[in-house]
Amino acid sequence: MKAVLVESTGGIDSLSCKPLMIPSYVPSGYVLVKNEYAGLNYIDTYHRSGLYPRECPFILGQEGGGTIALLSSEEDTTSLELKVGDRVVYSVFGSYAEYTLVPIDKVIPVPTELDMQTAVACVVQGLTAHYLSSSVGTGIAKSGDWVLVYSVGSGCGQWTSQMLKLRGYKVIGTTSASKIDDSNSDSSFGCDYIIKLQNEQGKSYASYTSVDIAAKVMKITNNKGCKLIIDGIGKSTYEISLKCLAKRGLFVSFGNASGAVPSFPVLKLLPQSAYMTRPKLNDYVATREELLERANEVFKWVKEGKLKMKIDKVFDLEEVAAGHRYLEEGRSRGKILYKL
Ligand SMILES: NC(=O)c1ccc[n+]([C@@H]2O[C@H](COP(=O)([O-])OP(=O)(O)OC[C@H]3O[C@@H](n4cnc5c(N)ncnc54)[C@H](OP(=O)(O)O)[C@@H]3O)[C@@H](O)[C@H]2O)c1
Repeated sequence: MKAVLVESTGGIDSLSCKPLMIPSYVPSGYVLVKNEYAGLNYIDTYHRSGLYPRECPFILGQEGGGTIALLSSEEDTTSLELKVGDRVVYSVFGSYAEYTLVPIDKVIPVPTELDMQTAVACVVQGLTAHYLSSSVGTGIAKSGDWVLVYSVGSGCGQWTSQMLKLRGYKVIGTTSASKIDDSNSDSSFGCDYIIKLQNEQGKSYASYTSVDIAAKVMKITNNKGCKLIIDGIGKSTYEISLKCLAKRGLFVSFGNASGAVPSFPVLKLLPQSAYMTRPKLNDYVATREELLERANEVFKWVKEGKLKMKIDKVFDLEEVAAGHRYLEEGRSRGKILYKL
């Protein structure tokens, strides 16, 4: 089978597709999935570069979907109602490959109404947006409160702003002006206000100093600030985020698209008696029940047309380096997939 194996961490140019053996044995507790698509997520670039260390060699990717090719012969999987040929998606390591061994408790059955591209797109970005909008601020922010979400023209941002709106929040979004289409009403991504930013010179992502975001947020919220700040940008935005917080608000730093947030004094939280968290998806889909509950709600919203999701680009797996380059240059306007 073709697969992308990382033998040592590094730059984009070290990525390539190689022939590997198809797993010939399915251990107890696993199914073998023949992938149709692998999702490209920012975390793949961190695994490739070594920012998030993993033991080499490893097959890259942590999101995929296709059909079950083999079930473990050592186990009665009938109780899980899984069978060969079922359409499934998952988030586990090793998805940049034609076949992936997936633990049974991580398998998410795909409703017949959803095509495989859409279903794969719902996994990492959809589930992340689900926990960010539904769980992470519980007890701190409530329906009707103001929330700030960055990059609503891109992957997680698009999903998160729409889901926050479905949960009843008032949403302020930021985006590179180039990533929204003013002539299209779906282009508001559920936001009540969109702060449009100029691009960083010569780049495809925003300059976060091109507009005084904190001043705009304070004006929109009547100087109250936002009860929740959902920040996947990191280094370029964490100081702006702290300035946009309401009293007893929560700063959710969930990503590093511009680089990792450096350490900063905890006293910066004092003026607003603020909270801060640095969550990750795995801890919010910790049990099979929680995984399926979130996935099924995301699927339902997509089926009902309540969530507009955009497949931005589909690369062949052989173009693995081009996909990583596209993402790291900040050009994404939705989901990026590899076709197997
Ligand atoms: N903790 C979790 O559970 C979790 C789960 C999923 C993703 N994440 C993290 O969330 C972050 C965003 O992921 P995503 O899937 O939304 O990615 P994405 O679709 O590629 O969006 C990233 C966006 O970040 C903005 N950006 C700002 N500075 C940038 C820079 N220097 N380089 C590239 N982009 C820059 C761009 O939007 P503008 O043009 O509007 O600036 C870009 O489109 C990543 O760090 C990812 O690892 C975390």
